[in-house]
Formats: sequence, structure tokens, C-alpha cells
Amino acid sequence: MLDKTSGNPDTSEPVIELRNVSKTFGEVRALTSVDFKVYPREIVGLLGDNGAGKSTLVKAIMGYFRPDPGGEIFFNGKLIEDWTVARARKLGIETIYQERALAEKQPIWRNLFMGREPCNRWGLLDVATMRSEAARLMSQHMGFTSAAVHPDNIVMTMSGGEKQGVAITRALYFDAQLVILDEPTVGLSLTETRKTLDFISSIKTAGKSAIFIDHNIFHVYPVVDRLYVLDRGKIAGLYDKSDISMDDLIDRLYRVARTGSLEE
Ligand SMILES: Nc1ncnc2c1ncn2[C@@H]1O[C@H](COP(=O)(O)OP(=O)(O)OP(=O)(O)O)[C@@H](O)[C@H]1O
Ligand SMILES: [Mg+2]
Repeated sequence: MLDKTSGNPDTSEPVIELRNVSKTFGEVRALTSVDFKVYPREIVGLLGDNGAGKSTLVKAIMGYFRPDPGGEIFFNGKLIEDWTVARARKLGIETIYQERALAEKQPIWRNLFMGREPCNRWGLLDVATMRSEAARLMSQHMGFTSAAVHPDNIVMTMSGGEKQGVAITRALYFDAQLVILDEPTVGLSLTETRKTLDFISSIKTAGKSAIFIDHNIFHVYPVVDRLYVLDRGKIAGLYDKSDISMDDLIDRLYRVARTGSLEE
């Protein structure tokens, strides 16, 4: 359930930790000895050029494939040996992509409960509960106050930002500990992007963590606590937002793009 506990990241033990994770696809070395952590109640940005390895890194976290031998993944401090997509999902790791997250022809309430539908005592789908819970979530957590947006609305008719709101709310409602957002603002207008960024901030207010991948530093910087910069499969930089201004970060990103290094 959503609970409103706000505050700073909790730095006790990471929700997820990658140690020495490498991934090769034939000749391509997509990741090289990556160390990466996300703490509870923290939003971590992941920046890097096309092909830097960002999606590969989060796919390793999602259990989509195994790291090369020698790499380790820890969840809440525990080494996970048999990491799979199903396992990762069961432990509370949810991924949100642009446009791919929802069943377009289904109403909002169906989408919110997709794959985890409550049943009544006769084993039938509890549609009434799903509808009323959907209405509650929409007004309390998604800020959909407009009468035009109703739980029965078909997702196809919603704007991109509203769709991302449904996807993020679904992840939080089902107690995701870690929400992974891989370029969630692709193709969205300015207003829709703003809404999506607000939803991303709400992940933290709900006491959960997120990894936010986006090419646009102007989207990432305002909502994150820490930032990793990936370059050609390697971690090229790690920053606490409080230690670096947006302008300095932009300078450094240009330097990485030019030289592959953050050093002067
Ligand atoms: N399944 C795969 N098979 C072969 N090569 C792959 C595979 N997945 C990724 N790669 C390669 O690994 C490298 C990193 O890809 P990845 O998708 O992680 O980059 P990215 O940082 O997400 O890029 P973008 O910003 O374009 O999404 C690329 O060179 C890519 O071609
Ligand atoms: Mg990618």
C-alpha cells in the first residue's frame, strides 16, 4: 500500500547492489565491472549516451539476464544466486517503459490490477472492489480530479503522462520496493513530461526507490538524489546531487562524451 513517509534517503543497506557486474554479448562488452547501488527511499539517475549500457544494467537488475561470472547482485543485503524476472518481480522490482506498460484497450481499473486481480469468495473477479479501489487511487494518488477521467476510461484515450501515472501508481500500490523507469518520457509533451516527473517524485514520498534513465539531464537532475554516469559500459562518474550543480554536471557529461573520462 502507499504510505506517506517522506524524508531523505535511508543509507543503511542498499535495496539493490551490483558488484563487479559485466555483461558481454558475443564481441560486444556492454558492461564492464559495474558497481552500482540504490538505497531505500532514493531516486538514482542513470545517464549516458546511446549504447552506454544503461538498459543492459537495468535488465541485469530485472533478472532479464545473468551477469557474466564474477558479478554479484544483492537484494536488501542478500546475495541472489537464482535471479530471474519472476523472482525480481516477486521481490518488488517493477519496470516502467514509455507506452509499453499498459493494455491500451482495457479500462484503467483493469490495468491497475492486471495480473493480480482480487477475487471474491466464489473465485470470481471482484470487479466492484477493483473499480472502487481504482477510483480511490486515482483521486488520492494520481491527482486525477477531473470528472473526465474515470476508472472505466479506456487507456488508449489517455495522454502519455496520465498513462505513466497509471503505471507508476500500479507499481507503488503493489508494493514495489524499486521502480525502474527506462526513458519514461520519450515522446511526451512538456506538460505530460512534467506530470510524469511529479509521479516519479511521488515514488520517494511513498517511501520507495527508483532508477530513472533518461537522455535529458533537465528531466533527471531535478528529481534524483544521486546520479551515475555510464560510458561505454563503465561507470564514469557518481555524484550526490547536493555536491554538483546542473551546469557542472552538463560540463562533465560533455567531457565524458569527448574523452570517455571525467578527469581534467
Ligand atoms: N541482446 C543483445 N545482444 C547483443 N548486443 C546487445 C544486446 N543488448 C545490448 N547490446 C549492446 O550492448 C550495448 C549497450 O546497449 P544498451 O541497450 O544497454 O545501451 P543504452 O545505454 O540503453 O542505450 P540507449 O540510450 O540507446 O537506450 C550496445 O552496444 C548494444 O548494441
Ligand atoms: Mg536503453
